[in-house]
This record gives sequence, C-alpha cells and structure tokens, in this order.
Amino acid sequence: MSVKGPEHVAIILDGNGRWATAQGLARTDGHEQGAKQIKTIALAASKMGIKYLTIYCFSTENWNRSVGEVNYLMNMPQRLLQNKQINDFNNEQIRINHIGRTTKMPPKTLEILQDSLAKTKDNKGMVLTFAFDYGAVEEMVSAINNIIAEKIPVVDETILANHLYTKDLPLVDLLIRPGGEKRLSNFLLFQSRYAELYFSDKYWPEFDEKCLLAAIMDYNNRNRRFGGITDNE
Ligand code: IPE
Ligand code: IPE
Ligand code: MG
Repeated sequence: MSVKGPEHVAIILDGNGRWATAQGLARTDGHEQGAKQIKTIALAASKMGIKYLTIYCFSTENWNRSVGEVNYLMNMPQRLLQNKQINDFNNEQIRINHIGRTTKMPPKTLEILQDSLAKTKDNKGMVLTFAFDYGAVEEMVSAINNIIAEKIPVVDETILANHLYTKDLPLVDLLIRPGGEKRLSNFLLFQSRYAELYFSDKYWPEFDEKCLLAAIMDYNNRNRRFGGITDNE
C-alpha cells in the first residue's frame, strides 16, 4: 500500500538491549531481532512509497560499549546483508547506501557493505541508508578537514552539504525514535534541522509496520512552516 507522506524517513533504532533483557535474553539476542526488524521495516517502507529510509545502526559513541557487544554489532552487516537478503532488496528495487566513517570497521565488514552497495547500485526504488559508525560531529569535522585539504577559500551552504556523507540524500522529513528516549544521540543533526520528530515507547524489535504507519499518519497531520507562515494562519 502506497501512502502519502514523507520523502525521507530516518530512524534511530533503539531499545534492542532493553527488549532482550525484558525477555530474559542476552543483549546480543536483542540486536539479532533488531536486525531482522530492519529488513521488515525497510520492505514495508518501500511498499508505502517512501523514497529514502535511513537507519542509525551504530554510532561513533557505541564503541564505548563492551568489546563483546561492539564485535557483535560490527559483524551485524555480515548477517544482515547475506545473498538472501540482498535478493529480497533487489526484488523490491531497494538501493543500499552507507553513511559514516569507514576507517575503524573490520575489513570484512567494510567489504560486505561495499559489496551490498555494488550489488544494488542499479536499483531504482527506495534508497536504504545504513548509518553505521556514523556520528554527526565526526561527519562535520571530516567535512571541514576535506574542505581545507581541497583549499576551498570560502564555504557556502552547498559546499558544506556536498562534503557531508549525506551529499546524495535530501534533508530528513520525519525522524522516528523508538525505545522511549527523547534525544538525537548525534544523528543527522544538520540534515534533520526541519525534520518532524516522532518518539515511540515501543522497543525497536517490536516496532512493526503498524507503528511505522502510525508515525507517517502523525507526520501527515503536522504543519511544516520552515520558519514561514502557512496560508491558513
Ligand atoms: C540499539 O539498541 C542498538 C544500538 C544502539 C547499536 P540498544 O543497544 O541501544 O538498546 P538499549 O537502548 O540498550 O535498550
Ligand atoms: C543511539 O542509540 C545510537 C544508535 C541507534 C546507533 P544509543 O542507545 O547509543 O543512544 P543513547 O546512548 O541512549 O543516547
Ligand atoms: Mg540504546
């Protein structure tokens, strides 16, 4: 079912660990369930007609977790982007994209990510972006350093935007955070400047298609002013 709604939806997936703990499972089981949910929601979003879906899977601050949990999360692309999943994304014409730092992740993880980009590059449907080892501050610092290295003397908004990881993505229309917290945790701070924010108490592993639809319906009732005044006011 295609629904009227936002062009670019971004999701801070959160609550995997608390979901697992509540079921008496290990936190890593929560991440496993959370990874499955990414695919479910991506396919649902594509069917709803969303053009861009960006999912925050690992932040530059998530390296502060235990070595075991970090290793598990760093190996997640190997499980999430196997041939079977890539086939399902291809069938739905979903193009995979990545934003974030690539210098710290294990070589095998980077290889899988790059491979999934290559295998889906000709798809014409929804762009599914994984924010993986992404942080808005790291993104801005690396953009500024690249601008300096290119000896660009004066910077304007377009030059800055073109040096961000998101240079090929439109601004975020709807930013969803399940898991009960009401903060941005260093996600797309520049690109979400006029995003509508939607918070849900559901943990990510149970944030299903109905929850996504509810967020979009809520978005459709918002009045986006972008600093101006709309006709009926
Ligand atoms: C989201 O779930 C996954 C990542 C941040 C990598 P969490 O692991 O943050 O789950 P909670 O917030 O501890 O429940
Ligand atoms: C945000 O979740 C980061 C990702 C979803 C990748 P966290 O669980 O890391 O956020 P905080 O620590 O609660 O702010
Ligand atoms: Mg969390």
